[in-house]
Amino acid sequence: MTGLEDLGGVGPAIAEKLRSAGYESVESLAVATTGELMEAAEVGTRIAAKVINSARDAAKMGYERASEVMERRKHLGHISTGSQSLDRIIDGGIETQGVTEVFGEFGSGKSQISHQLCVNVQLPPEQGGLNGKAIYIDTENTFRPERIAQMAKGVGLDLGQALENIYVARACTTDHQMLLAEKAEEMAREGDVKLVVIDSLTSLFRTEYCGRGALAERQQKLGRHLAALHRLSELHDLAVFITNQVQSKPDAFFGDPTRPVGGHVLGHSATARIYLRKSKANTRVAKLVDHPGLPPESATFQIAEAGIRDLN
Ligand code: GTP
Ligand code: MG
Repeated sequence: MTGLEDLGGVGPAIAEKLRSAGYESVESLAVATTGELMEAAEVGTRIAAKVINSARDAAKMGYERASEVMERRKHLGHISTGSQSLDRIIDGGIETQGVTEVFGEFGSGKSQISHQLCVNVQLPPEQGGLNGKAIYIDTENTFRPERIAQMAKGVGLDLGQALENIYVARACTTDHQMLLAEKAEEMAREGDVKLVVIDSLTSLFRTEYCGRGALAERQQKLGRHLAALHRLSELHDLAVFITNQVQSKPDAFFGDPTRPVGGHVLGHSATARIYLRKSKANTRVAKLVDHPGLPPESATFQIAEAGIRDLN
């Protein structure tokens, strides 16, 4: 693995400054802008550009052959959601080497699916898992080990083991959230992490960057965060699952009520996007929206005591 000091233009002093400004990995530098680095490391444009370019080379962010892409995609893994009908519309479950976004209003089941995936990823492939561990970055304090216990029981996993295999962190600020994503990269490098959940991706961004004036800055930072998440998923062949709340406001009657909060940055950067809406009682409807290779089909599932399941 390449360290900061191995990059062109980075000596010990600059490496130190970069680290204290939060750039811990080559990947984080590869997605930075020259302006950010000039400020963070107190260097000129030329050095900043050199550092970024060499980080991009090291992180292999340029072109690759289609045959290499094909080879990589042969190893795509899928994590079952617990509902076969939901799995079907997304081609067999949540994919590795990509970012899947689920969006919907409060109570639509975003966090419940997140919990279920943390359990299911631990199962062997023939049962819909990847024999892997999960990381759960929680921004709304919604992670519930008790719920994991119910779901583990639902799929016949040993409870102690199920909880051991999920690493949970509570993010307090957007910077903290981004740092935790970097830490996830370190953990993935060491072991068999196959799923990284961020529930929710956008809530802290929304509170920290409120008002029209902060919009551009928010979108830029969110874009960088997402780029790092994509990179993480591809680098370690793992699935990134992000949640995003949408409010169904009365004024949305005239617009698209399913437009998620992140706006365009989010809209065009997730690999798969699933829109969730409430139906009767514990029934939910999921719709796959603007996927590059799959039709926009819908599926119905239920949030049962044992977890996410097909309708009876
Ligand atoms: P926000 O985070 O508020 O945007 O909502 P969300 O989309 O994350 O909703 P969440 O996944 O928390 O879904 C909440 C729904 O899941 C509740 O309305 C319940 O119907 C169901 N639910 C939550 N916990 C349980 C549980 O322990 N057992 C069962 N059977 N259902 C549950
Ligand atoms: Mg939630």
